Amino acid sequence: MAAHLPGALVDAAYDAVGRPVLFRLGGGDPEVAHETTLDWLAWWGRTPARRAILELAFGSQGRPVDVAGIRFAGPVGLAAGMDKDARALMAWARLGFSHVEFGTVTGRPQPGNPQPRMYRLKDSHGVINRMGFNNAGSAAIAARLELAGIRRGNLAAGMPVGVSIGKTKVVPLADAVEDYLSSLRRLVHLVDYLAVNVSSPNTPGLRSLQGAEELSGLVRSLVAEAAVQAEESAQSALGPVPVFVKIAPDLEWSAIDEALEVCEAAGAAGVIATNTTLTRDGLAPQDRPTGAQAGGLSGAPLTARALDVVSYVTRHTSLPVIGVGGIMTADDARAMLQAGAALVQLFTGFIYRGPGLVRDINALSGLTERD
Ligand SMILES: Cc1cc2nc3c(=O)[nH]c(=O)nc-3n(C[C@H](O)[C@H](O)[C@H](O)COP(=O)(O)O)c2cc1C
Repeated sequence: MAAHLPGALVDAAYDAVGRPVLFRLGGGDPEVAHETTLDWLAWWGRTPARRAILELAFGSQGRPVDVAGIRFAGPVGLAAGMDKDARALMAWARLGFSHVEFGTVTGRPQPGNPQPRMYRLKDSHGVINRMGFNNAGSAAIAARLELAGIRRGNLAAGMPVGVSIGKTKVVPLADAVEDYLSSLRRLVHLVDYLAVNVSSPNTPGLRSLQGAEELSGLVRSLVAEAAVQAEESAQSALGPVPVFVKIAPDLEWSAIDEALEVCEAAGAAGVIATNTTLTRDGLAPQDRPTGAQAGGLSGAPLTARALDVVSYVTRHTSLPVIGVGGIMTADDARAMLQAGAALVQLFTGFIYRGPGLVRDINALSGLTERD
């Protein structure tokens, strides 16, 4: 069995050095910390020797889970938005993640919203962002995955990979389906699952695609195209790529009911709940956001609402559910899994807790350290 660094040491190092340094970079600009982390992880992921060192330091693995025909080595994945352009694609599995959701990518490359567009709410352990799908576009991401030798089913990244697809900002809502389809066609042979993002608050009108009629048209088109692509592909034995739908935490229960009905009828493989919230509940007084901080809120202020939504969704659908939102501790992950989530994902918790959180979640799922 490989000797990993003691967990307490990883936590202490992140608390004492990792987080303080990252939080000071760029004069405290969270986007600089984010970019630096990705550069750093991309570097560490580049050669087998470096990957082995990462694995030795941080590797952990939980209990394997099968979801939508895919075997995941453990319960915890990296949520969409952290590695939008699949830059650190070879590193994440070595930190103990069982999957990563790249993107959100759009049909065309786009710069996203003007900076600043990401804020830390330190006392609340939250983040507000209005990135606006800054990404290199689905063609460039597909080229990057191909270059790295990543194909559907080959686990070349050391784990299954998903990609989140969204709408290009300048494409009118009426043409949204074609924009999503263009990304699907480029990526479908490279990834293990697709996540349809209709729940980001930062692309005008995007969330209206969660309405029953719009969602039905979109998901049916994507599922049908995935089937066509599977038939035409050398990978046809794998069947069509599973299509997950990611929903917002701000939907009324009745709207969730409708969305679930649509997902089931349209052939979606599962539901990802939730994206960031537009509400501002649960913030520490020092963090009361200024008007300038428009965008989606994530992290601890979202924990309770995301868990409520996941509990509701698992009780109202037979589709598998990936729980995400405000998982800041292993207990938060446990609550999501006990509420019926098949897998969980992290974003903001990883910023505040570092790789130790991944290890803790793996441990609670029935730890067997990677040999
Ligand atoms: C800076 C930032 C960027 C994000 N970008 C995306 C994205 O591109 N696509 C997406 O589906 N979710 C995106 N999210 C939402 C996360 O994937 C996740 O659903 C949300 O943050 C709740 O989880 P958390 O509380 O663990 O952060 C983003 C979140 C943050 C903080």
